[in-house]
Amino acid sequence: MSGKNYSKAVEDIKSTVNIVDVIGSAITLKRSGSGYMGCCPFHKEKTPSFSVSESKGFYHCFGCGEHGDVIKFVEKYYNLDFQSAVEKLCAQYGIIIEETVGPSDKKKEEYYEANKQAARYFYDRLSKSANKGYEYMSGRGLSAKTMQFFGIGYAGEDWTGLVDKLTKNGVRKDVLIELGLAAEKNGRLYDKFRGRVIFPIINVRGKVIGFGGRIIGGGEPKYLNSPESAVYQKKYNLYGLNRSKDAMLREGFGILVEGYMDCVSLYQAGIENVAASCGTALTPEQAKLLKRYAKSVVLCYDSDNAGINAAIRGIDVLREAGIEVKVLNVDDGKDPDEYIKKHGKDSFLDLMRRKAVPGVEYKVAILKRSYDLKDHTQGIKFLQELASIIKRLSPVEADIYIQKYSKEFGISEGALRREVEAASGDKTQDVPVRHAAQPSGSEKSGQPSRTQLNVEHMLIRLIMLKPSYIERIRDYPEAFVSGRGRSVIQSMESFYKNGELDMDALRSELSDEDLLYLDKIEEKIQIGEDMEKSFMDCVSKLERARREARIEEIDAILDMSDTLPEEALDQEYINKLLMEKQQLIIKNKGEN
Ligand code: GTP
Ligand code: MN
Repeated sequence: MSGKNYSKAVEDIKSTVNIVDVIGSAITLKRSGSGYMGCCPFHKEKTPSFSVSESKGFYHCFGCGEHGDVIKFVEKYYNLDFQSAVEKLCAQYGIIIEETVGPSDKKKEEYYEANKQAARYFYDRLSKSANKGYEYMSGRGLSAKTMQFFGIGYAGEDWTGLVDKLTKNGVRKDVLIELGLAAEKNGRLYDKFRGRVIFPIINVRGKVIGFGGRIIGGGEPKYLNSPESAVYQKKYNLYGLNRSKDAMLREGFGILVEGYMDCVSLYQAGIENVAASCGTALTPEQAKLLKRYAKSVVLCYDSDNAGINAAIRGIDVLREAGIEVKVLNVDDGKDPDEYIKKHGKDSFLDLMRRKAVPGVEYKVAILKRSYDLKDHTQGIKFLQELASIIKRLSPVEADIYIQKYSKEFGISEGALRREVEAASGDKTQDVPVRHAAQPSGSEKSGQPSRTQLNVEHMLIRLIMLKPSYIERIRDYPEAFVSGRGRSVIQSMESFYKNGELDMDALRSELSDEDLLYLDKIEEKIQIGEDMEKSFMDCVSKLERARREARIEEIDAILDMSDTLPEEALDQEYINKLLMEKQQLIIKNKGEN
C-alpha cells in the first residue's frame, strides 16, 4: 500500500487556501452581509443565491441546495475526482503532497511514461505517412480528426519498430515486457502489437494505461489487449470515458457499448456521452466510476446472444451501484457502430427515445422469451421467476411492477404480490458501498477526539474478533479517523472474504507502524460479553456524530442566508432547515 498522503494535504488546503479566492476565480463574487454571493454555477439562475462564507470555508446555494467546502467546489466545478481536486489545489497553492511510501509510485510513473511513448509512436505511424492502419480506419468511416482525438495508432508488420524506438529512448526492457508491449524470444525482444490498429486506453486522469489492438482485416485474435499491470486493472476502467465524461455530465446520462469501435463511431457521429466496457463483464468498480459522471445509463450492447446476456448482468451491476438503467437493442445491424453508420445520429437518438426500456422490463421481456406461457407448468415457472426479479426492487418500484405485470399477464395483483413475498430473494439488493474516498465535506481538519479514536479502536478490535462486522461498517467510512486506522481498515478489506479475515496474511503485509497499531489495540481494547451491543454502541455514536455535523452545517447555512437579498430568500426552505435542525436536536437528546 503506497501512495500520497492526501489526508495531510486536505488539512493543509483547509488551513491555507481561501475559499473566496478559489471560487472567486471561477465565478464573480460580491461582498454581501457577512460573506460573499454570486450566481450559482451549478444551476441556471439570474438572481444570485449562491453564498460563500470565508470564515467557515463553506459554500451553499439557496437555489439548488448544492454545498460543500473548497475541495468539493473544485471537484464539482472542474469535474474532477476527489484526488485530482486535491492535486489541483495543491499545485495552485504550492502545497506539497507527501509520499507515504515511495517506490511503487515511482514504478507507476515509469510505466505511464513508457505507455505514453508507445502511444505516441503508434499514433505517429498512423498519422505521418501512408499506411494500412489509416487506410483501414478511414475505410470504416473514421475521420482523421476522430483518429487524432482518440489517439488511434498503427502498429506495422515489422517485428521491432516499437522496441527499437522505446529502448533507444531509455525505456527498460522489463517495463516493456510487463506492459505487454514486447515479449522475449531467444534473448531478443520483439513487438507484441503487429499489423493492428491501436486504441490507447486512457484513464479519466489522462494517463495511458494500456492498449487494444484490432487486427487489420481477418485473423486471430481479432483484438489483442494489454495484460493487467501495475497501471492497468481492467475492472477499474472504461474505454473512452476520459473523452466522454464531460458529455455524460452535460447530458445527465451515459451510453455504454461493448466495443472500441462502437464508442469511437458513436462519438464521431455526435453522440459524445459514450464509453465501452470492451467485451468484459461490467464490474461493480466500473459502475462506481461511471456513477461519478452519470446517474443513469443506457446499455447499448450488440444484438447477439452474448450482448443480451452481458446486458442482463450489466443491469444488476449498475442498479446495485445506484445507477438507473435502460437497455437499447439496435434493431438493424449487429452493433451500435453499424447502426449509426447506416442511419446516423438523429435516427439513433430517436430509436433510443422510442425503444430503450427500463432494466427491469428488459429482464422480464427476455425471460418471457424462454417460456411458453400457454403451457400451464411453464406459466407458473415464469411467474416465479418474474416474482424473484420483482423481489429485488425497492418497495415503490415493486409496487408499480406488480400492478403492471398482473394486468399484462392476467393474474390478480394479490397473487403476484404473494408470489413476490414467497420468492427467494437470492441476491439481495443491499450490496454495501465499498469504502469510498473519504467524503470530502465531512473531513474536519484538526485532531480527532478521544471518543472518535475510541470508536475507531473498538471497531478494529471487533472486526478482529468477528470479521463480518467489516461489512456492516462500510457505510461509515468516517469511523476511521486516524491515518493509521484508515490504512489498517483498507488492508483488512483487501484480506476480507466471505466472512473471514486471514489475520496471519494481513499481519505479514502490514507496515511496521500499522502492525504496532494493531497489536496495541489487541492488547488494550477489551470487549465485553455482548459483542453486538458494543458494535451497536459504536454505530449509534457515529450516527450521532453525523447528526451533529448536519446541525453544524445547517447553522452555517442559516448564518450565510444574510448574504442574500431579501427577495431571493426562500422562507420555505429556511423553515425546512429549521425544522430539520429541531428534529436532529430532539433525536440527539433522546439518545442521551
Ligand atoms: P469490430 O469487429 O472491429 O467492429 O469490433 P467490435 O467492437 O464490434 O467487436 P466485437 O463486437 O466482436 O467485440 C466487442 C469487444 O470485445 C471488442 O471491442 C473488444 O474489446 C472485445 N473483443 C473482441 N474480440 C476479442 C478478442 O479476440 N480478444 C479479446 N481479448 N477481446 C476481444
Ligand atoms: Mn463492430
